[in-house]
Amino acid sequence: MKRLVVVGTGLIGGSFARAARQARLFDEILGVEPDAARAATAVAAGIVDRIVDTVPAAADAVLLAVPSDLIDGWVVRLADHAGIVFDAGSVKGAVLDRVRATLGRIPPRFVPCHPIAGSEQSGPAAASAELFAGHEAILTATAETAAAAVDAVAGWWRAVGARVTFLDPDEHDRILALTSHLPHLVAFAYLQQVTPAHLEHAAGGFRDFSRIAASDPAMWAPIFTLNGAAVLGALDGLQAELDRLRALIERDDRAGLGRLIEDSRTRRRAFVPPGDRSAAGSIPVITIDGPSGSGKGTVASLLARRLGWHLLDSGALYRIVAAVARERGVPLDDAQALAALARGLEIVFADERVFVDGADLTRTIRTEESSQGASQVAVLQPVRDAILDLQRAQCRPPGLVADGRDMGTVVFPDAPLKVFLDASAEVRAERRYNQLKNNGLSVSLAALLANIRERDERDRRRAVAPLRPAEDSVLIDSTELSIDEVLGRVLEAARVRGLVART
Ligand code: DC
Repeated sequence: MKRLVVVGTGLIGGSFARAARQARLFDEILGVEPDAARAATAVAAGIVDRIVDTVPAAADAVLLAVPSDLIDGWVVRLADHAGIVFDAGSVKGAVLDRVRATLGRIPPRFVPCHPIAGSEQSGPAAASAELFAGHEAILTATAETAAAAVDAVAGWWRAVGARVTFLDPDEHDRILALTSHLPHLVAFAYLQQVTPAHLEHAAGGFRDFSRIAASDPAMWAPIFTLNGAAVLGALDGLQAELDRLRALIERDDRAGLGRLIEDSRTRRRAFVPPGDRSAAGSIPVITIDGPSGSGKGTVASLLARRLGWHLLDSGALYRIVAAVARERGVPLDDAQALAALARGLEIVFADERVFVDGADLTRTIRTEESSQGASQVAVLQPVRDAILDLQRAQCRPPGLVADGRDMGTVVFPDAPLKVFLDASAEVRAERRYNQLKNNGLSVSLAALLANIRERDERDRRRAVAPLRPAEDSVLIDSTELSIDEVLGRVLEAARVRGLVART
């Protein structure tokens, strides 16, 4: 039996595990994860088969997907391990130096690697089997590294869709200081000046420049210090450019500024995002908004299945916040406490089930109590802000179908296809009536209709994220249409926009 052990089940470790499973590289995948919530999520979501305390002797491959300052310790501990050990850290030279300083050698079966893929997200909930597809995996083997180990590791990276390249460790560190470490440093520095009041006036420019400032401190603090010399070199270069820009502005040299901007624009245009589909902003999103009973949940779910895309049931997130708040005794009107709670949750949607901090809440969030709670917490802006990140985190290749009330207006304003699905209150009440009747519950149609009218009024008039179609949305009235007819219209709109191939 071939066994992989992933040390650290975060975004990178979790994604490799998912991709390796999909490619059937190993028969069993184990995880070493000291963080209890992450461990529970990694098991619940099927990322690893089980969690172990330490790396067992019988492992063919060990992936060290831990922050860069912990890698050398693991390499030293596994120096005589019979399997192949490889890592995914952003710093190579300094880590190898530290291993050599402790052991006096580099273990031949340790293959230093750096997949150039990731995102500002972290944790197993963000893990995706497609993370490495089309991306580079840099291998920085040393003279001491066994050729057979390099071949095996290169084969695994290729099997998960990566393009394998080879670099000298120090050269890797100099290049990455400029292409990755410096942009993160600048983004972190820039955000120090920005307050919540500024954010009200921020849009695309801010979003694109600042995205990586949301990255995990546990990952980034060690990178800057371990790769200190190269990072400081890159920072000096930037400082010189900033001085040049400052001088141009002080001299009111518009032509000089124009030349510099033109030159930078040419350099940027030469960049082709790796993996293309998975490049930030290029993952297609179809939003489906509308009132409850309009059929959007069913259509979104059918559409996601048809396209093989991910599904975001945003209402479920509000339901989760309400359900967990009740369980933990957080009052449903304490906006700040609810927002903090929402930000701390690890949510995984897998196989039509939902896991929160490792616990299966699929049924709990569908109770009447959770429905009521969800509509209460949904009017609180801090809760909506906290949930915004969770929602956007679901946007993963090859695409996303997002169902809710404000998907097209607030959460995915750049979505290439926005659908607003509506139906008369009478028909929506009738659908709900039939649904409840099929579940053996007896209710009055008149009462349901009154409820729906009342809820519509509240949803459309509420001050915070009211239910309304995005200006550029396709309006579909499903009053006289079957689900199949609605699905057909959405698919046609997707074809027209080139999101789906014509069949
Ligand atoms: O779609 P649903 O019934 O599961 O939604 C539960 C509640 O959450 C509902 O009261 C509306 C609210 N909601 C929202 O305000 N914004 C969304 N994008 C989705 C749901």
